[in-house]
Amino acid sequence: MNKMFINGVYVSASSGENISVLSPETGLEIAQIPRGMSADVDSAVAAARSAFNGEWGKKTATERGRILTKICELTLRDIDELAAIESEDTGKPLELAKADIKALARYFEFYGGAADKIHGETIPYLDGYSVSIVKEPCGVVAHIIPWNYPAQMLGRTIAPALTMGNTCVVKPAEEACLTSLRFAALTLEAGLPKGALNIVTGYGAEAGAALSSHSGINMLTFTGSPVVGRMIQESTANNHVRCVLELGGKCPQVVFGDANLDKAVPGIVNGILQNSGQTCSAGSRVLVEKKIYNEFVSRLSEMFNSSKVGPSNSSPTCGPIITRKQFEFVSNCVNDALSRDIPVIGKGKICSTANVNGNYVAPIAFGPVKPDDFLAKEEVFGPVLSVLTFESEEEAIELANSTEYGLVAGVWTENGARQIRVSKGIECGQVFINCYGAGGGVELPFGGVRKSGYGREKGLQALNEFCETKTVVNSYS
Ligand code: NAI
Ligand code: MG
Repeated sequence: MNKMFINGVYVSASSGENISVLSPETGLEIAQIPRGMSADVDSAVAAARSAFNGEWGKKTATERGRILTKICELTLRDIDELAAIESEDTGKPLELAKADIKALARYFEFYGGAADKIHGETIPYLDGYSVSIVKEPCGVVAHIIPWNYPAQMLGRTIAPALTMGNTCVVKPAEEACLTSLRFAALTLEAGLPKGALNIVTGYGAEAGAALSSHSGINMLTFTGSPVVGRMIQESTANNHVRCVLELGGKCPQVVFGDANLDKAVPGIVNGILQNSGQTCSAGSRVLVEKKIYNEFVSRLSEMFNSSKVGPSNSSPTCGPIITRKQFEFVSNCVNDALSRDIPVIGKGKICSTANVNGNYVAPIAFGPVKPDDFLAKEEVFGPVLSVLTFESEEEAIELANSTEYGLVAGVWTENGARQIRVSKGIECGQVFINCYGAGGGVELPFGGVRKSGYGREKGLQALNEFCETKTVVNSYS
């Protein structure tokens, strides 16, 4: 039985109730997690407040950096065990889970190294005054994270928060939180004081809602669906709590006639099939210049036809969908598109060893898809790619901006001036030119505009989100 982590101790939910965690590969129960509710959130927030006012709040930046660096080392020491847990919990292939644990460690390395290099500023002001700008931690930060990259997201959100001297209460997704629970022990071993990190498991509508509406938190980060993102904005507004929200995308990959297709096609296929398309920054929408459509599609079809989905031990291109519910949603999107006779460009296979009760969806590419079609506009969150066409650069930019989202974009062209024009024209938080990094890059500021959310995570930029600026004006005359 897994327990949650409050004030440095593994505990059951105060209700004594548990939630069953099912394997994406077999549909069978693999674990139980505590069903945390508001009483548990209260304890976690109180523990985080004590640590903020106490041991963690009193550490120097150098001491914080050393502890974060130690957490990185211990994560890498235990990478095989953590990756095995992550793979079993999410269904993702072991190699991908390993890459995710490396990213988790890397967040602690990157931010641990930054801890004592974040300095304030002075401002020249009136004669006889000195002015300093000081960066102070927010206090207790709430982190509500999803199930698609549970380990990476944990690192992405708590490492910069801890670096700045905040304390954390995490509500991981009920679908996949086992790695975070195991990881918590490593933070204690590394010397993180009790209460600096707390993890409350439970349902979104219970533990999640209790945390986002809690009057004891000072800031909140959320990654997940736009619907829940809006609910969280409403509940945090009651307490005037600032948020950073990452709410997904329908990210365009724009392919011009002069693109190097040897590079573009594999980059685009990986950008959608990685993690079975369950990635906020998945390049789920390809916009191709009409004059190369046939050539592009024949190469894409080859790659999709040779892809396979299956259990982790079958070396698949991608693994199952996280839950039955998400599987049904993705399957319905595919069946609906098929019933509307949208042409299929290519389709992968389900591995023969895949369990019939697993949540396996064969990778599929559709095209040409009409620009106002559901498949061209809405997040499917599965291994489903839509291909659209354009004839001019202006039309490409217009199409790229034609959804409500604005998270990441890919641009494939050898024309340097066009690279700049198009990357300026697309409204989003990250643009990749002749490459695509769905989810990657600890150093790279990441976040969106419009329905994709606001605020930035990753990179040094994230540190600005996890602190408050204080201006100190001193008259010495
Ligand atoms: P979700 O938004 O319901 O869940 C994300 C997190 O929010 C989980 O920890 C959940 O427990 C929590 N949560 C849910 N309801 C809450 C509430 N009322 N108050 C506070 N916290 C709450 O996402 P879900 O249902 O797992 O997936 C639905 C869709 O959302 C996906 O198909 C996908 O389109 C999108 N999504 C986007 C993600 C991203 O990386 N941006 C990640 C996961 C889902
Ligand atoms: Mg939900």
